[in-house]
Amino acid sequence: MSKYLDEQKENIKRVNKLVDDLSQADDLREKLKTTREKYNRLLERYEKLDKVFQFHKGIVQNLSSGIITTDMKGHITFLNKSALQLLAYTDKDILGKPMEYLFADSEQAARIYKRVFEQQDMYESKEINLKDARGALIPIGFSTTLFRHGSTQEGVVFIFRDIREQINFRRQMGRMDRLATLGELAAGLAHEIRNPLAGIKTSSEVLLESLSPGDFRTEFIKRIIQEIDRSNGLLQRFFNFAKPSRPKPGFHNLVNIVDSVFVLLRSRLLKRNIEFERTFEQDAVHIYIDEYQFEQVLLNLFLNAMDAMPDGGIIRMHACLEPAYTFEGREEKGAVVIRVEDNGHGIPPEKIENIFLPFYTTKSDGVGLGLSICTRLMDENSGKLEVQSKLGEGTVFSLYLPYVKNIQQES
Ligand SMILES: Nc1ncnc2c1ncn2[C@@H]1O[C@H](COP(=O)(O)OP(=O)(O)OP(=O)(O)O)[C@@H](O)[C@H]1O
Ligand SMILES: [Mg+2]
Repeated sequence: MSKYLDEQKENIKRVNKLVDDLSQADDLREKLKTTREKYNRLLERYEKLDKVFQFHKGIVQNLSSGIITTDMKGHITFLNKSALQLLAYTDKDILGKPMEYLFADSEQAARIYKRVFEQQDMYESKEINLKDARGALIPIGFSTTLFRHGSTQEGVVFIFRDIREQINFRRQMGRMDRLATLGELAAGLAHEIRNPLAGIKTSSEVLLESLSPGDFRTEFIKRIIQEIDRSNGLLQRFFNFAKPSRPKPGFHNLVNIVDSVFVLLRSRLLKRNIEFERTFEQDAVHIYIDEYQFEQVLLNLFLNAMDAMPDGGIIRMHACLEPAYTFEGREEKGAVVIRVEDNGHGIPPEKIENIFLPFYTTKSDGVGLGLSICTRLMDENSGKLEVQSKLGEGTVFSLYLPYVKNIQQES
């Protein structure tokens, strides 16, 4: 009996333990449930935070302004896409480098460092040059902000924007201004001089008619009339130069245009011991332009090249089709590019900006109008003119014309 009782007691104990275990499992399940809920809530919050983070990151990355952050020692910690693109760097080349590395002028950099990192003050500059990965100068406007975590300064944000277009625009406006004034001046002047010239010419013609045949004065009066015609022609040219007529573009063969300019210069080239070499790629031969205006551009460039080579040399002309090209730092679509290159004395780097200004000349007999007229005519024909020069080695002028498909040529 007692054995039977013991067995029953054991059974009850087991049942009790089972009941205990079961209630513990319930507890555990409850706990697991609350943990899972907490975890899900955390996950939800994390996702929301991540969205906010991605949103802000997207804004910072895609801002057209460049953003660079540094630690308080001036070491670069972050660059957004615009900054990397503008400076032609990759993250791995530049992260960790001192910010100073990017400024073109070390004295300026020292001043900025002092203000920003030592005095922990803001800095703003309307125009300053950065140096890109290839060493090219990029003018920018920038401002700085300190960012802090609690009361400690964590680092500095440099926000900047590329101001190359602004500068070019300003420069162009300056040129246009001077050209417009010059145009008005020339128009007024030509008018004032042509009127009395017309009077002198008419009087001379009357005088000529009144002379009896064989009169020795006939030749003198004829000479006067000739000189008046020449002066009139000169005035007309100057007038056309300063205020060019609207271009009448059409498809023309570059070879023919170059030939007609070459004919004008052949004897001078020979006399000055200057060779002329040209290579035209087939695709670039048909250009869409006002041929007379383009002749003027080429003539001015050739004359300048000849002046730059007083002891002889060589003018090389090359035309090709470039699918995409960079102009003043900007990527442009395809173009016909015509280069006129000489191996003359070149242009000092500090003077190169001036050569397109009206009346800038280094020649005793120069007017300083040739290149400003070229720029203007290229502008009128939707083209562009660029120069590269090495002092003592030579100069290359590049003429960019938009590539216009010649439909007639294709059919
Ligand atoms: N190929 C070149 N090589 C060296 N210097 C050049 C060249 N082309 C232009 N220059 C410089 O640019 C200046 C301006 O040229 P631009 O053609 O406008 O005027 P210019 O030749 O002096 O006078 P002009 O009005 O008679 O043409 C020149 O005086 C010269 O210093
Ligand atoms: Mg000239």
